[in-house]
Amino acid sequence: MTTPAPSRDAGPEIRLAERADLLAVYRIEQSAFPQPWPFSAFEQYLGEPGFLVAVDGAVIGYVVADTIYKHGRRIGHIKDLAVHGDHRRDGVGARLLTQAIGVLDAEGASAVKLEVRESNEGAIELYREYGFEQRSTVPNYYSDGERALVLVRDV
Ligand SMILES: CC(C)(COP(=O)(O)OP(=O)(O)OC[C@H]1O[C@@H](n2cnc3c(N)ncnc32)[C@H](O)[C@@H]1OP(=O)(O)O)[C@@H](O)C(=O)NCCC(=O)NCCS
Repeated sequence: MTTPAPSRDAGPEIRLAERADLLAVYRIEQSAFPQPWPFSAFEQYLGEPGFLVAVDGAVIGYVVADTIYKHGRRIGHIKDLAVHGDHRRDGVGARLLTQAIGVLDAEGASAVKLEVRESNEGAIELYREYGFEQRSTVPNYYSDGERALVLVRDV
């Protein structure tokens, strides 16, 4: 044997989301969040460079990110991120986050922000690992009344 077997270390493929991915994305969204985005919200991001999926045979995670122009500079916004429950703690969320930040960088963002439920310890840990720091809190950000932490990092 001269060629080693393909390594699993490479992880899932990360690519732009396509229409055919939307049902799988929506199912993950429904299982991951108490107040999931509607299907139509994902449709609106189709074709956006910051709507990425992780694919390992099937869609196992996704991220939605975009930029806004605020106070004279472009700010990246991670709007949604989830990994299928069977595929967590395998580096998929981190890869999606890293790729999304790369897209935001290419779009000229100087910083990235996101909101996260203050009870979402796993996600907060992920974001802290990747350099996000708490900037502020927003009371009643979620419709069940929970506060959001606003986390920010430089690109
Ligand atoms: C948050 C989420 C996207 C993380 O995805 P993931 O693929 O499991 O994360 P990763 O495997 O890439 O984790 C990378 C690192 O983040 C931290 N981390 C991730 N999930 C964690 C958890 N539940 N508890 C503690 N630390 C966690 C760890 O440091 C982890 O590294 P390690 O596994 O080597 O210890 C996933 O748990 C999820 O989909 N949750 C439901 C949806 C959600 O809350 N999304 C975020 C909304 S703001």
